[in-house]
This record gives sequence, structure tokens and C-alpha cells, in this order.
Amino acid sequence: MDLKQYVTTVEDWPKPGISFKDITTIMDNGEAYKYATDQIVEYAKKVNVDIIVGPEARGFIIGCPVAYSLGIGFAPVRKEGKLPREVIRAEYGLEYGKDILTMHKDAVKPGQRVLIVDDLLATGGTIDATIQLVEELGGVVVGCAFLIELTYLEGRKKLKDYDICTLMQY
Ligand code: PRP
Repeated sequence: MDLKQYVTTVEDWPKPGISFKDITTIMDNGEAYKYATDQIVEYAKKVNVDIIVGPEARGFIIGCPVAYSLGIGFAPVRKEGKLPREVIRAEYGLEYGKDILTMHKDAVKPGQRVLIVDDLLATGGTIDATIQLVEELGGVVVGCAFLIELTYLEGRKKLKDYDICTLMQY
């Protein structure tokens, strides 16, 4: 299946000059959503994972069906102030300023093999912070999987020590 035909490009959103990749048109098509999920599931089987970790919000949309399909757990990474129990934190840079991602302290157990899943790899800042969180908890990041990679932003360079799987490149 050519998944790219289900991605909608929205020009000048959310700001002028940004060419936004909208994946809701993958999600609302049952066949495309299942195909995309299954591709990541196949990758997960190869790298052998114990738990999926995904950053909000779109990382949940892709990561949860992968976890369900594998019969393993899913641990959410959320922006500060959203998780109810004790958390660890990691800062990451945005275009202007910075933001903080958090995880529950017991979300990943030491030695667990973790696959990080998100919809899109751009600069890699979100996933870099997510990796820091997982490693602080003692998890082993065995791979990072995305639907889309914006190759010109060179996120892969930032994540050069990790195995990366992307289904579509722009
Ligand atoms: C988007 C996207 C990735 C991240 C990629 O999330 O879903 O998580 O940006 O960018 P990066 O590689 O440069 O870090 P966003 O922060 O917009 O959050 P959302 O999914 O909650 O909209």
C-alpha cells in the first residue's frame, strides 16, 4: 500500500511557511490505519520489545494499537502537569523556548526493552527527550518508529546511536 496517498499536506499551518503533514486521513481510513500499524508491529517483532513508549498526543494514536497488537503495555510520555503520580522530567527545545516532558517513575522497569513510537520525526527533539526519560528509568531503547520522517530536518543525526524505522520520508 502506498501510505503517502493517505497523508494530507496542509500548507501554511499552523504558521506561514510550514507544510503540515496531517495523519488524521490515515487514521480515519481503516485499511490505511491497520496497514501503518502492522508495519510498525513487524518492526517491533524484529527488535524484540517488552513495552511501547509514546509521546502525546499523536504518539498515542500510533503507539497504542501497536502495543495492543503485540499484547504488551504502553507507557505515555506527557507534557508537564498531566500525569497524576510521581514523575521524572526532561526538557527539550522548541523553535521558541522550551517545553518539558514527563513520565511516571514506575512506567518502565529497569532492563525492559523499549520501542518508542510517534507519528513524525522532525528535529528529533521530542524523541531525544523521550529517550532520556526511558534511560533514566533504566529502560533499554531498542528502536524508534515513526510514520513520517522529515529528512531535511535531520532528526536522524540527533538520534544516531539508535535504530530508527520510518514508513514515509519527505
Ligand atoms: C509533533 C509530532 C512529534 C513532534 C516531532 O508533536 O507529533 O511528536 O512534534 O517534532 P520534533 O522531532 O521536532 O520534536 P507536537 O509537539 O506538535 O505535539 P502533539 O502531538 O501533541 O500535537
